[in-house]
Amino acid sequence: MENTLYDFGMIGIGVMGSNFLLNMADNGYKVIGFDLDATKAKKLEDEATPGTTVKGVVTLEEMVKQLDKPRRIMMLVPAGKPVDNVIENLLPFIEKDDVIIDGGNSHYVDTLKRVNYLNGKGIHFMGMGVSGGEEGARKGPSIMPGGDLAAWQRVQPMLEAVSAKVNGEPCVAYMGKGAAGHYVKMVHNGIEYAIMQLISEVYDLLKRGIGLDNDELADIFKKWNEDELQSFLIEITSEIFLKNDGDTKARLVDVISDKAGSKGTGKWTSQDAMELPVAVPTIDIAVAMRTLSGFKNERIAAAELYHPKNKDLKGGKKEDILKIKDALYFATIICYAQGLSMLYNASTELNMDIPLGDVVKIWRGGCIIRSALLEDFYKAFKKDKALSNILLSKHTSKLLKKKEKHIRAVIKLAMQSKIPVAGLMSALSYFDAYCTERMPTNLIQAQRDYFGAHTYARIDKEGMFHTEWNEEVVQADHAHAQTENPKH
Ligand code: 6PG
Repeated sequence: MENTLYDFGMIGIGVMGSNFLLNMADNGYKVIGFDLDATKAKKLEDEATPGTTVKGVVTLEEMVKQLDKPRRIMMLVPAGKPVDNVIENLLPFIEKDDVIIDGGNSHYVDTLKRVNYLNGKGIHFMGMGVSGGEEGARKGPSIMPGGDLAAWQRVQPMLEAVSAKVNGEPCVAYMGKGAAGHYVKMVHNGIEYAIMQLISEVYDLLKRGIGLDNDELADIFKKWNEDELQSFLIEITSEIFLKNDGDTKARLVDVISDKAGSKGTGKWTSQDAMELPVAVPTIDIAVAMRTLSGFKNERIAAAELYHPKNKDLKGGKKEDILKIKDALYFATIICYAQGLSMLYNASTELNMDIPLGDVVKIWRGGCIIRSALLEDFYKAFKKDKALSNILLSKHTSKLLKKKEKHIRAVIKLAMQSKIPVAGLMSALSYFDAYCTERMPTNLIQAQRDYFGAHTYARIDKEGMFHTEWNEEVVQADHAHAQTENPKH
C-alpha cells in the first residue's frame, strides 16, 4: 500500500496507543503508528484485524509524509518533557492547519502553554483526556477533548466512532476552552483516587472488622455491583479477590505490598483545588493515605509502640454489611460532588466553559469512574445546567437521606474497632459542613483579627472591621470599620 494516505497517526504505540489505533482501524479509518522500537511497529501491524488498514513505522518523517492533509496526529507519551520533545521533533515536518492531540495525562498548565505556543505557529493543538485503561482504548474509552475548537471538529467523527457508547450516545464531547480536556481528566482521576480510597476502607472494615475471607468479599462486591453501587471499580474489585497467585497459591491480593503508587494526577487535583480554591477533602485524604502507605517502616514501629488492638465490629454481620454498603454509596456520591464542584468553579475561574452535563454524560461509559450514579447526575444536570453542586439537587438529596444514618453508624463502629476510615469520615464531614448554615469559622475570623489584624465581616452591617482585642473593656463601639485592604 505504497500510496495509501492515512487518516490518523499515533506517536507512542505502547499498549494504550496501539489499542487506540486498532480501535480506530476497526471503525474503518486508515491508521499509522510511529515508534522508534521496530518490534512495536511490527506488533501493531500483526495485531490489526484482517481487512483493516494499519501501518507501523520507525521514523516520524515516514509517518507524517503518509498522512492525509490537514494531518491528524495524536501522541500517547508520558506527561512532562516527553510531550515537549515530541512536539519539537514534529515541528519540522508538519504544516499550518495540522492537528496535534496530546492524549496522555498532561498537567493542564503545560497544556495551556502548548496550546498558545502552537497556536502561534498555526497548528491546532488539543489536550485530550482518555480514560479506560488498555481495554478501554481497544473497546471504547471515555474521551475528554478540549481547547482548539477547529481541532475538535476535525476529529469529532473519528473520536465518536472509537469511544464507548451508552444508550447509543458516544462517551466523548467537547469539554471546553484552553486546557479543559486535561483539566476534566485530572479531576476524573481525583475522583478515581477518592473512590478507590473508600473501597479500600470498606475492604478493611469487611476483612478486619467482620472477618470475611476473599471468597466472601468477592461475593459481596459482586452483589453490590448488581444494583445501585454498580460501577467499574466495584466490578473489578470483586474479581481481584478471586485471583490466585501463581507462585504462592495464595490469593494475589494478599501478597501485594500495601505501599500504594501514584503518577501524580490525584495530587494535582488536590493542589489545583486549593489554588482555585474549592474544597475536595476526600480527594485530599485519598492522596494523603497513599502517601502514608509509603511510610511502612514507621508504621511498623508505631504498631509495635501502640499495639492497636482491632476489635470486631459490634453489630450483626448481615446488618453491618448492609450499613457498610450504604456508607460506601453515600460517600461515593460525595466524591463525585467534590469533583464536579471543582469543575463548576474552575470553569469560570479559569475561563474554560466546561459543560458539566456533558462531563457526566461521557463519564457514564468507558472510563474508570463509570457507575450507575452518573446516570442520576446526568438527569440532575439535564434539569439544571447551572447546578453548582450535585448535593443541591433534590434527587441527590433523596439518595443521600436514605443512607445517612448508616454512614454515621459505620464511622462509629470503625472508630471503636480502630479501623481507619479517613475517606468515609471526610466525606461525611464535608456533607455536614456543606449543610451547615452557620459554620464555626466566625471564631477563626476573630482569632485572625486578634493576632494579625486581618479584619472581619459582621452579620449585622456592611464593611470590614478590626477590634483591639487586648483592650480591657471590649464594647461594640470599640470596633471600628476598616475598609482598606479588606482581603488582608
Ligand atoms: C484512566 C486512569 C489512568 C491511570 C492513572 C492513574 O482514567 O484510565 O485514570 O489515567 O490509571 O494514571 O494513575 P495513578 O494511580 O498511578 O496515579
